[in-house]
Amino acid sequence: MTNKKWTISLAVLFFLFLYVLIQFVVSTQKIEKTVEQLRQTVHSSPALPHFVLISQELDNLYWREIERGAKEAAKHYHVNVEYIGPLRTNMDEQMKLLEKAIASRVDGIIVQSLNDVRFTPLINKAMAQGIPVITIDTDAPLSRRLSYVGTNNLEAGKLLGQAVISRVNGKKKIGVIIGSDMSANQNLRLEGFRSVIAQNPLLSIAAIASSNISRIQASIQTEKMLRAHPDISVMVGTSALDAIGILMATKNLNRKDVQIFGFDNVTETLQAIRQGQIVATIIQQPYDMGYSAVELMVKHLSGQHIEKEHFTAIKIVDKTNVQQEGTE
Ligand code: BGC
Repeated sequence: MTNKKWTISLAVLFFLFLYVLIQFVVSTQKIEKTVEQLRQTVHSSPALPHFVLISQELDNLYWREIERGAKEAAKHYHVNVEYIGPLRTNMDEQMKLLEKAIASRVDGIIVQSLNDVRFTPLINKAMAQGIPVITIDTDAPLSRRLSYVGTNNLEAGKLLGQAVISRVNGKKKIGVIIGSDMSANQNLRLEGFRSVIAQNPLLSIAAIASSNISRIQASIQTEKMLRAHPDISVMVGTSALDAIGILMATKNLNRKDVQIFGFDNVTETLQAIRQGQIVATIIQQPYDMGYSAVELMVKHLSGQHIEKEHFTAIKIVDKTNVQQEGTE
């Protein structure tokens, strides 16, 4: 009898243990299944498309406007835009950033074109690997880039020429500061400017120098130029910070008679126009460039056709319409 009791107790204990074991195995399997499901959810929830925007110079006021437009479009279209660029303008660094973007297989590249033999093959390489490229601000028309977004720079140069012709009187010598003699957009602006000035027998270009898109260099180059050619009485600048640099130099030399024309709508240029220290500026639309470039990239990725060239607006701003350009 005692033996039988023992056997029954042992059997009950055994079945209890078996029950607990089975429960344990079942719940472990359930947990594993849930973890796996979670893992799959994490992996399959689509990460936002990742675009890279490569500028000429990270903290340049004009490029920060392009970034602002691009980030706004990114918010609207639910994509990620990573804004990068060299601290100081540097083609090698820009090229490296482009190489990196290709190597990390981003979903789209928006980049300022460079006048460097390595640039077009790199763009073509990205396109061949299925990474769409849109050029911004400066084009590389011979590359296989998807589209160009920005100013028609030849036309912008002509507009600068017209701004000068209609605002100066009599025989005048002109000094030109360009952002960089290596940039296609600057050379196109210069070409357009020259073509218009050449039509006016009273005007001639006496000297050309490069600012390397720095206001300090624009100022130094202007001082040199005005010392070497004291008969220059009109100065033009073809990149965003040139007119401000030119103004600094004319103040240093006490040359209030020099008429200054510039490019872009940076706050100081607009202020100087209001104060009558700069005559006029050609305004581009950097915010629109950034916004449109992202928008076009999104359209392309969703299978829509996008045009090869998307020109943004340009206009002349002088004291008659500067008030409409905000209250900065
Ligand atoms: C040009 C840009 C340049 C910037 C420099 C703009 O006018 O379009 O290419 O980077 O000036 O400040």
